[in-house]
Amino acid sequence: MPRKKSPIAPVLQESVKTLISKARVQKRIKEVAHEIRRDFPEDTLHLVGVLKGAIFFLADLARELHGNVSFDFIAVSSYGEGTETSGQVRLTKDLDVSIEGKTVLLIEDILDTGLTLQYLLRIFQQRKPRHLRTVVLLDKPQRHVTEVRANYVGFTIPNEFVVGYGLDYAERYRNLSDVSILRFDRPRKK
Ligand code: IMP
Repeated sequence: MPRKKSPIAPVLQESVKTLISKARVQKRIKEVAHEIRRDFPEDTLHLVGVLKGAIFFLADLARELHGNVSFDFIAVSSYGEGTETSGQVRLTKDLDVSIEGKTVLLIEDILDTGLTLQYLLRIFQQRKPRHLRTVVLLDKPQRHVTEVRANYVGFTIPNEFVVGYGLDYAERYRNLSDVSILRFDRPRKK
């Protein structure tokens, strides 16, 4: 008798592999901070971090930006528990203070499809900042579905799902210091 296939899918094993080391991340953040300060030497820079993925990036970037800096946070939801965006962006936490007349740096962990930045830029532009610039640690150009491009980019990366340095999968892995590729493998047969 042929054996029936089990209707239960095997549990996939997650593994992470470093893509960008902690040292490279930190070195590049210094360079990006330098570029930003060169462009806005006198301004108080108002950093708006997109929760939660941008928290470490904002914290490290802020410390490399000499001169006056203030921050605020905004939260959106689009991913849920998976690795694919739902395509629907929703504001779940608004800013605490007005951005009118300020030099605003919108800080995102990653530019993937671009839908989140497109949505946020539309809202922010209506609020009349003096300058509005976008800063992303990672950019996945192969995934873009919008015309949105970031003004400052840490690293351009291939089309892989990445975790660490603030980025998560189902709220895990944010605390890794490196940026790592997350893979899902079938368990090896013993
Ligand atoms: P976008 O709207 O598709 O550009 O996606 C932006 C948001 O999706 C980011 O702020 C991340 O929270 C999440 N995201 C996109 N790609 C990845 C990834 O490779 N790893 C973890 N989160 C990701």
